[in-house]
Amino acid sequence: MALRGPSRQPLSPLFLLLLLLLLLPWRCPGAEPAHPEQVHLSFQGEPGSMTVTWTTWVATDSEVQFGLEPGEILPARVRGTCSPFVDGGILRRTLFMHRVVLRGLTPGVRYAYRCGSIRGWSRRFRFVALRPGPDWSPRLAVFGDMGADNPQALPRLRGDTQRGLYDAVLHVGDFAYNMDQDNARVGDRFMRLIEPVAATLPYMTCPGNHEERYNFSNYKARFNMPGDTEGLWYSWDLGPAHIISFSTEVYFFLHYGRHLVQKQFRWLERDLQKANENRATRPWIITMGHRPMYCSNADLDDCTLHESKVRRGLFGQRYGLEDLFYKYGVDLELWAHEHSYERLWPIYDYQVYNGSREAPYTHPHAPVHIITGSAGCEELLTPFALIPRPWSAVRVKEYGYTRLHILNGTHLRLQQVSDDQDGKIVDDVWVVRPRHGRRTYF
Ligand SMILES: *[C@@H]1O[C@H](CO)[C@@H](O)[C@H](O)[C@H]1NC(C)=O
Ligand SMILES: *[C@@H]1O[C@H](CO)[C@@H](O)[C@H](O)[C@H]1NC(C)=O
Ligand SMILES: *[C@@H]1O[C@H](CO)[C@@H](O)[C@H](O)[C@H]1NC(C)=O
Ligand SMILES: [Fe+2]
Repeated sequence: MALRGPSRQPLSPLFLLLLLLLLLPWRCPGAEPAHPEQVHLSFQGEPGSMTVTWTTWVATDSEVQFGLEPGEILPARVRGTCSPFVDGGILRRTLFMHRVVLRGLTPGVRYAYRCGSIRGWSRRFRFVALRPGPDWSPRLAVFGDMGADNPQALPRLRGDTQRGLYDAVLHVGDFAYNMDQDNARVGDRFMRLIEPVAATLPYMTCPGNHEERYNFSNYKARFNMPGDTEGLWYSWDLGPAHIISFSTEVYFFLHYGRHLVQKQFRWLERDLQKANENRATRPWIITMGHRPMYCSNADLDDCTLHESKVRRGLFGQRYGLEDLFYKYGVDLELWAHEHSYERLWPIYDYQVYNGSREAPYTHPHAPVHIITGSAGCEELLTPFALIPRPWSAVRVKEYGYTRLHILNGTHLRLQQVSDDQDGKIVDDVWVVRPRHGRRTYF
């Protein structure tokens, strides 16, 4: 009888609470090491396909279950690969990158999918399969320089994505600030943030200077772009356009390999030749690269110095891209890096080549450049030089992003969305090139 003491009493509520608190971190689904996260899509060029990429913290199977939307069940199953990525930081954190290619998709049809393994499934996402032919009008969201902190334009992009405004995203370099930071945890946080957009639309990328650490390894591991060059450069067809993505960074981080400048240049020339052979089918040639050839910002970047390495090449003479792009009649060059929006008059070698004074972008006699790096990051916006250059048409120092609508083989439209002004369109211009198969400007 005398044995009744505190130790025999039923568990006190306080004790239960402590126990619960102790167990909580292990019960939180986000901390389940086999649970898929950072889900995103890309298009690797094969018609009727879509690539799904995600991350887990332990090695698991890689499976995507998908089916037509709407539909309760996901009847189709595809397996893919799981490969470890070891970050270069001091903790050598290991991420398991899963990659599954869905094939045989019906163009223009909406699918639902989830990814993972029996050890954990993602939530359900949706996407529309891209159309392979040239006869449709792709709509893209284009921007660069979006960070894990201060990603100003992201909520609006998420809203646009839910409303079905786009077929794909072009992120023109500089992610997360930086993906390698804090032993790549900043990269994880960024990839989780963009998931609502990137798991719904092919999220197409090029590397920027902020991806430089450990030879761009976070960039190469996290994004699955077309081709076999680890996503540093590639091209793909989308409707009436041929889109070329490349690395301006090979011109700046020479210690990772000077040969990359030449290798990429040769690839670009070959790709431009092929694109021109196919120009009757895909008349537009659009490039995306991070650091612009021209800009009128008030800083000390490559484009504010007269001899831009991207424009003129190394030592001002080898592998310059302006001549190459001009020679092969590139229509539109998309850039970022400057945290602002700037549109140029058609330009070659600092000279403006308007189609005509009344309609500068109708049959322009040189490529059109757009610099769109104001999606939002911890470095805030970049100011402009006080006096605009004669080749600068529009400058907007507001957070936002660009909408690119490739209507058909002769008409495309660029619109700048201001996030600061609640989604107002602050620039709106048509580029018209009536002559199919036109190769060069001269
Ligand atoms: C950096 O990566 C590229 C391929 O992405 C490779 O060709 C190059 O040799 C690497 N450089 C170094 C120093 O490892
Ligand atoms: C190009 O067109 C714009 C708009 O009409 C005009 O302001 C500019 O002066 C033109 N530039 C040249 C060199 O013709
Ligand atoms: C392309 O679209 C524009 C704008 O809607 C239209 O005026 C033009 O006729 C179209 N061109 C062709 C070849 O369909
Ligand atoms: Fe940059």
